[in-house]
Amino acid sequence: MHITVIGSGYVGTTIAACFADLGHDVTAIDIDEEIVETLNDGQSPISEPGLDDLLETHAGNRLEATTSYDAVPESDVTFLAIGTPSNDDGSIDLGALEAAAEATGEAVADKDERHLVVIKSTVTPPSIETVLEPAVHRGAGENENIEVGMNPEFLREGSAVSDFLSPDKLVFGASSEWGTDRLHTVFEPLLEDHDADIVETDPQTASMIKYANNAFLASKISLVNDLGNICKEFDLDAYEVMEAIGLDDRISEQFLRSGVGWGGSCFPKDVNAIIAAAHEEDYDPAVLEATVEVNDRQPERMLELLADHVDLEGARIAVLGLAFKPQTDDIRNSRAIPMIELLKEQGAEIVAYDPVAVDPMQERFPDIEYVSSAADALDGADGTVVVTDWDEFATLDEEFDTMATPVVIDGRRIVQPRDEITYEGLTW
Ligand code: UDX
Repeated sequence: MHITVIGSGYVGTTIAACFADLGHDVTAIDIDEEIVETLNDGQSPISEPGLDDLLETHAGNRLEATTSYDAVPESDVTFLAIGTPSNDDGSIDLGALEAAAEATGEAVADKDERHLVVIKSTVTPPSIETVLEPAVHRGAGENENIEVGMNPEFLREGSAVSDFLSPDKLVFGASSEWGTDRLHTVFEPLLEDHDADIVETDPQTASMIKYANNAFLASKISLVNDLGNICKEFDLDAYEVMEAIGLDDRISEQFLRSGVGWGGSCFPKDVNAIIAAAHEEDYDPAVLEATVEVNDRQPERMLELLADHVDLEGARIAVLGLAFKPQTDDIRNSRAIPMIELLKEQGAEIVAYDPVAVDPMQERFPDIEYVSSAADALDGADGTVVVTDWDEFATLDEEFDTMATPVVIDGRRIVQPRDEITYEGLTW
């Protein structure tokens, strides 16, 4: 099969490389010439385990990158993987995706055979019918042989390639049997040696499945954090409680780690987008609003715990971990951001460390101190807050002895408590 993938960002690059690995011929299309060149050199424009290897193997062979839409009509299916950034009110900005959808329509305007345009980007159900389908058809003019489908993506950062190649489920949103069959053909090589559940549905339901999936997971963590905060008030260990409730199959043991909350490029954006889309329909999504509220509260609770032990005005506070989760340098919506803002408001002197995410955070907060090891951050500090669960924080030990006052507030249950330090877990 020949597949065109429009957009070579995080999702686009991953799926283009993985489709090539499944044996398809892939043309990756992006307006950014630098990205196109990087891909054609067999390198990844983003850092993701396994991606460089796939690109090195397939670039110039089954995978080609270009800025032109010429390959679109020759291909059997086109995936749109263009970013949909958040507007100030939480809704998504469809501008770039709509333009790409129209350009794709234009590219297939004279195509005789039927063509499937699949939306990979996360978009709300109504926007498919009101914005994206019309954009494709506007571009395609008289050609009625074009169908728009939806195939949401459930990749996690740090394991995107393996998540793609061994998914739990595939969601095929199509408006006809032909569209569904075409999506089956795309994923057939993957399903030959991997058993994934397949959900066949319409494009709008497919898009809602993506939002419901992420909203459910974010709400699960916020609920665990809400319960965890109550545990803390009762001097109980939330992890002991969650381990027990995770034994119930209906709850499952996953996503029960309470602490400073969720961040990243998906959960915050998607939860806010579905809230905004619900408001558009005059519906108040009370649980989802509380999900965001509890998440916003966790860094504040961490600061309160710290303030119980340290007078923050002028205190030197070490922030350990800046990435939104381990194994990535992504700081988007990292809980470290509100943590640093709150510490600044209190007049603390901040020294920050992360094994890989110092550079992006330096751009965000140029006026705080950054060091190259956890030991350096702790040296002389009056207290520390642990925001990301990097493995290396689990082995910190004598490094705490160099602190001026060894107060450790752990937001991820990663530090090993020892007698010599004042240790507080956020929910334990
Ligand atoms: C998430 C979804 O898992 C993925 O399916 C979707 O496509 C994109 O969003 P990702 O953002 O890469 O993936 O990270 P994930 O590993 O799911 O973690 C999200 C956040 O939740 C992190 O900040 C993590 O620290 C936090 N988290 C996760 C918890 O606080 N507790 C948990 O138990 C699990």
